[in-house]
Amino acid sequence: MTNSKRPFAIITGASRGIGAEYARGLARQNHDLLIVARDKARLRELSQELETAHTIHAHMCVLDLAQPNSAHQLFVRAREYRQTPDLLINNAGFGLYGEFVSHPLPKIQQMLHLHIQSVVESIRLFLPGMMEQASGTIINVASIAGMLPIPYFAEYAATKAFLISFSEALAEEVKSSGVTIQACCPGQTETDFHASAGFRPSSPIPIQTASQVVQASLAAIDKKQTVVTVGWPGKLSSFLATWVPRTILTKQTARRTRPPSMT
Ligand SMILES: NC(=O)c1ccc[n+]([C@@H]2O[C@H](COP(=O)([O-])OP(=O)(O)OC[C@H]3O[C@@H](n4cnc5c(N)ncnc54)[C@H](OP(=O)(O)O)[C@@H]3O)[C@@H](O)[C@H]2O)c1
Repeated sequence: MTNSKRPFAIITGASRGIGAEYARGLARQNHDLLIVARDKARLRELSQELETAHTIHAHMCVLDLAQPNSAHQLFVRAREYRQTPDLLINNAGFGLYGEFVSHPLPKIQQMLHLHIQSVVESIRLFLPGMMEQASGTIINVASIAGMLPIPYFAEYAATKAFLISFSEALAEEVKSSGVTIQACCPGQTETDFHASAGFRPSSPIPIQTASQVVQASLAAIDKKQTVVTVGWPGKLSSFLATWVPRTILTKQTARRTRPPSMT
């Protein structure tokens, strides 16, 4: 256990994209970090960047959070540094695009584990300590995609819907405990996400930067806002998801997401 007095944040999926921006944003706010992902070289590079630019520790944890028992491994690892983190950001995730029946079963299992199992288990392990110290924040990085059914991103959107629902319910349960729970719901964001998923977005809505997502998410902590969207594209998507009938929304969405080979 270290004796640093700085706040301590754990960020999963921090090797690039939105997770790396959370790490940069929190390092600027003088947090010690535990950055988690599978890519050791990228984590090392980020850790060096942050420790050079700021007077903080950026510890690394190379871990595949789609594997059974990984949340427990993360919990044990985090305790090498602190009894309880001040901030837990469940950000690691990936997209899976195309017809559901064409997706390899192991890939679907990985997604369910990474987006749901690992997140729920981590929260079950870290939340009691936060409640005991009557402070702390848990951010679950969901997506605007979790607000509506998305054909050809069916499992992805459904796992993100789980995260939003779970975060809202938990936020209500712990509201008088001093712990804040947030579901951060970015819209299309400039990262490796779409290329990794094999999808080229064609939406007329402007693409956000990872830095805009992180600014909105961190700014919402003090306001204790549970579901956080980013800018007007986020507000518009959330409005449409609330007021447009789901049958219409699903059909319209499918027109944008249907693979070119099927049109
Ligand atoms: N970009 C968007 O348009 C967008 C929109 C809404 C929501 N989101 C959400 O934002 C989060 C971050 O995505 P991003 O856009 O920053 O994508 P990204 O650039 O592809 O980053 C994904 C991160 O997740 C990590 N990761 C993936 N699988 C992992 C595993 N099995 N174990 C541990 N770490 C794993 C990756 O690290 P390694 O490969 O090194 O493990 C990487 O650091 C995701 O949850 C995504 O669903 C993204």
